Amino acid sequence: MNNDVLVREVTQDDLPVLFDQQLEPDAIQMASFPPREWDAFLTHWTNILADCNVTKRTILSNGQVAGYILGFEQDGKTHVGYWLGKKYWGQGIATRALKQFLDHVKVRPLYANVTENHIASIKVLKNCGFTITGYKKDITNSHNEHLNEVILVLGCEKEKKVK
Ligand SMILES: CC(C)(COP(=O)(O)OP(=O)(O)OC[C@H]1O[C@@H](n2cnc3c(N)ncnc32)[C@H](O)[C@@H]1OP(=O)(O)O)[C@@H](O)C(=O)NCCC(=O)NCCS
Repeated sequence: MNNDVLVREVTQDDLPVLFDQQLEPDAIQMASFPPREWDAFLTHWTNILADCNVTKRTILSNGQVAGYILGFEQDGKTHVGYWLGKKYWGQGIATRALKQFLDHVKVRPLYANVTENHIASIKVLKNCGFTITGYKKDITNSHNEHLNEVILVLGCEKEKKVK
């Protein structure tokens, strides 16, 4: 199937779709990330939409809301994160969307933290030029699960940040 992938600004109208996508059990398990109830989700996204330090994009696949990508600050470093609805998985959409996002977000180094068994996400990042720069062992997530994380980076870690 010909798949047209585009990233654009997130709108309020996208939120109900993004909410449902973060509730999908296979995605929660894959990402090791807990879902939010609607009120908490709405508060979280209202803050994101109001924060000019967060770069947020909706991923469209053939015009439908397929997921999102965020660029955000954590521990003084800029990180990227993304999420796709399950029906959009396995079609190269995340890789293509992240490449478009990186054409727009020029901050380097750019980091991503991924659980070490998350093969798909590590591949998406490597497809876009990220390399493994380190590991975080035995961190505790909000499920109180102990996880090992892989840290990936795009760009030289000593490079001066360019907006
Ligand atoms: C991770 C995720 C973004 C991948 O999106 P996607 O559009 O399916 O990824 P792509 O199609 O671009 O695939 C990238 C690579 O991963 C591989 N891949 C995709 N799903 C896979 C899976 N379930 N298991 C193993 N490999 C997988 C693809 O074959 C492809 O490999 P290649 O580069 O060798 O061709 C998507 O599954 C998702 O949103 N999951 C839930 C949320 C999540 O985990 N977010 C990331 C948190 S770090």
